[in-house]
Amino acid sequence: MTKENNSGSGKMWGGRFSEGTAASVEAFSASIHYDARLYKYDIAGSKAHAAMLSANGVLTSEELKAITDGLSAIEKEIDAGRFEFKRELEDVHMNIEKALIDRIGPAGAKLHSGRSRNDQVAVDFKLYLRDQCDHIIELLDAVRKSFVIVARKYLGHLMPGYTHLQRAQPVQIAHHMLAYYEMFSRDRERMVDCRKRLNLSPLGCAAMAGSGLPIDRAMTASALGFDGVTANSMDTSGDRDYAIEFASTCTIIQLHLSRLSEELVLWSSQEFDFVNISDTFCTGSSIMPQKKNPDIPELIRGKSGRVVGSLMTLITLVKGLPLTYNRDLQESQEPVYDAVDTVTASLSIMAELLFNMSFKTDKMAQATQSGCMTATDLADYLVMKNVPFREAHGIVGRAVAFCITNGRELPDLTLEELSQFSPTIGKDVYKVLNIEGSVNSRISAGGTGLVRVEEAVIAAEKQLGIA
Ligand code: ARG
Repeated sequence: MTKENNSGSGKMWGGRFSEGTAASVEAFSASIHYDARLYKYDIAGSKAHAAMLSANGVLTSEELKAITDGLSAIEKEIDAGRFEFKRELEDVHMNIEKALIDRIGPAGAKLHSGRSRNDQVAVDFKLYLRDQCDHIIELLDAVRKSFVIVARKYLGHLMPGYTHLQRAQPVQIAHHMLAYYEMFSRDRERMVDCRKRLNLSPLGCAAMAGSGLPIDRAMTASALGFDGVTANSMDTSGDRDYAIEFASTCTIIQLHLSRLSEELVLWSSQEFDFVNISDTFCTGSSIMPQKKNPDIPELIRGKSGRVVGSLMTLITLVKGLPLTYNRDLQESQEPVYDAVDTVTASLSIMAELLFNMSFKTDKMAQATQSGCMTATDLADYLVMKNVPFREAHGIVGRAVAFCITNGRELPDLTLEELSQFSPTIGKDVYKVLNIEGSVNSRISAGGTGLVRVEEAVIAAEKQLGIA
């Protein structure tokens, strides 16, 4: 085994060690290559902690000033890319603390009083996630806004609605867009809720049992914008529920994006030909000159696996883990970072993509003309004439079979042809067989009738403040 030449005391925690760490162990256990992302939160947490220690007589005001100024200077160096993170210092916490001690001496060595890296990393991670919740909420709002703008633009235009990917009933294009608005609105609520639950401060739980020093957890919590402090130090040092909840919220967002992406891929195929995605959002084929590929929705769909994978990693990580902190928990960061990067990039590009495509409204309207899509309307018509629904279903089924055999559509059948299937059918039937009439009859709450969809657009515009 290769050993580094540093003595045990070369480490911040090296007092009880007589030998240095193996280079292979340092390489395997370091997290600095990804947790450097937390530096701003680590510094904010340390500043709040130092101010609290000073207020409680653990640090003098001179020591506090030296620590605060030192941390600010380190932050500037990191911002400017001039700070050298060292792998032998393991993680962001040790790198910053060591740099502080090198810079200001003994006062720096007092900073870690009354805390542990276990509560420190939890503070950093929660502060990071809180910002990410806010950022993702903003991006969700941008996507929600795109749907509403597109919905308003296409109000009154029709398309086939599908079940089992078979033409089912005609709907407003706007209704389809607002279905996604609802999905992403629920995602927003989940993100708001996740932020609320995670916003309690772990700082001062120390290693896992709390601290015997005169610390004031409420003071640091309020300085860092937390709503309060966590209740149990043992729970806190081993808790990663908030990361799991965040990743599961990200997963649902990415699933919603993947469903939309799949529809855009289908709709831009020659088979559907419902949508034109602008050239700036597509790529060509290196061999087939005629191709224009919907890469962006395909990539968003493909990236779902990464986010689902992050959630799987996190839940597997915590399964069966004994209380309290275990080093396993260091592995909770990378999947979260990957989920954040993937979801934020996917939401941003989707918000843009929705303005870089147009629906081929003629093609979509034309597609509503075939497939006997007013069959349910005909059944409802019979129900209103007192025919029991099951019987009506059978009558219409026979009429549809007749259409299929003869290459006809329901609205084209003559009254004589229709009345073969039921004498109850009169000439007023054509009102319900007409596609527009069918759509606009669906005025039940949440339905696709024009009045309901207009109301829904207005309500969404109000929610978004774009009325
Ligand atoms: N880098 C560690 C993590 O991210 C910090 C906490 C380490 N604590 C410990 N007792 N080794 O989890």
